[in-house]
Amino acid sequence: MYASFKSIGAYVPPKKLTNQDFEKMVDTTDEWIKQRTGIEVRYIASEEQSTSDLAYEAAKIAIERSGLKHSEIDAIVCATITPDFLCMPSTACVIADKLGISHITAFDISAACSGFVYAMNIAKAFVESGIKKNVLIIGAEKMSSIVDYSDRTTSILFGDGAGAAVIGTSDKKEESIIDLHTSSDGAYQDFLITPGCGSKNPCSQKVLDEGMHYLKMKGNETFKLAVNTLTRDVKNILEKNSMTSDDIDFFIPHQANFRIIDAVARKLNFPQEKVVLTVAKYGNTSAASIPMAINDWYESGKLKTGDLMLLDTFGGGLTWGSAIVHFNQK
Ligand code: UT7
Repeated sequence: MYASFKSIGAYVPPKKLTNQDFEKMVDTTDEWIKQRTGIEVRYIASEEQSTSDLAYEAAKIAIERSGLKHSEIDAIVCATITPDFLCMPSTACVIADKLGISHITAFDISAACSGFVYAMNIAKAFVESGIKKNVLIIGAEKMSSIVDYSDRTTSILFGDGAGAAVIGTSDKKEESIIDLHTSSDGAYQDFLITPGCGSKNPCSQKVLDEGMHYLKMKGNETFKLAVNTLTRDVKNILEKNSMTSDDIDFFIPHQANFRIIDAVARKLNFPQEKVVLTVAKYGNTSAASIPMAINDWYESGKLKTGDLMLLDTFGGGLTWGSAIVHFNQK
């Protein structure tokens, strides 16, 4: 039995933050942001919305498009670095409750921007081992809850949102997740970090005063590592499966920065029309970025059943991963 990507759904929160808005908040310009990142707009959740609310909206759509009943989902894996609650309960448990599903496996994983590909890896293993039949995987983030809006080097990059997919079964290889690779290197843990409010620096007035609860990033160093690591990782997974960019219908990378995507796509000979780009309209939504991009291409009519997607991602940890996946929503 193969694991198969059965459906996609996404949710974009209502509040728009444009580059012009940032010009009024920090020392930046629309031109700098567009040139250095490709970002024009990002969306921000309302104060009342938490990550599970965004995830719930995306999950409802993904389950409906899979043709399954809520009761047929037997596991939920939520990838997020902005959980509803710091320690417990997991966001996945809260989402399960909102969906009216109980007595199933539900847990969160933390792999930053690589979370959705990591979650897919877990779902693939669950399904192919026969432990689970229909796994709901979610990438959902309220990045605005950990962004320091006085820091121009990070605030302009991130947006909120959620994407979800159902990974089910198929007996046909041409409907399956062909291959998937995930990896990490903790030696670079300080490249992307929220230093405060974990067990290392528990929440205190000092931690809050020093802004340690906010996301920090060594942007330029991360950029260079991202380009090199992603190029190598995608090359490896293609070679391992005796494929080239010609065999792939859509290259769907993590949407952190247009320049990273463009550099990797050029090095791997992906023509522009095969490269899925949503960074201009959503910014970097961390674990939600890949499923939001898949959903965008599906809803715009470009992504069709049977298309072969190549996903690749890179994020805090550091973590990275890639996957060759047939889109099998019927
Ligand atoms: O999603 C997880 C993985 N994340 C990534 O892959 C992100 C990787 N990094 C990046 O996307 C880029 O490094 C950034 C977009 C974050 C920054 O672009 P950069 O070309 O690497 O710029 P930089 O950090 O080298 O900074 C260049 C200059 C600096 O000024 P000085 O020191 O040269 O005077 C910054 O202070 O740009 C300045 N700068 C800004 N200027 C205007 C930094 N942020 C801004 C800003 N507006 N928002």
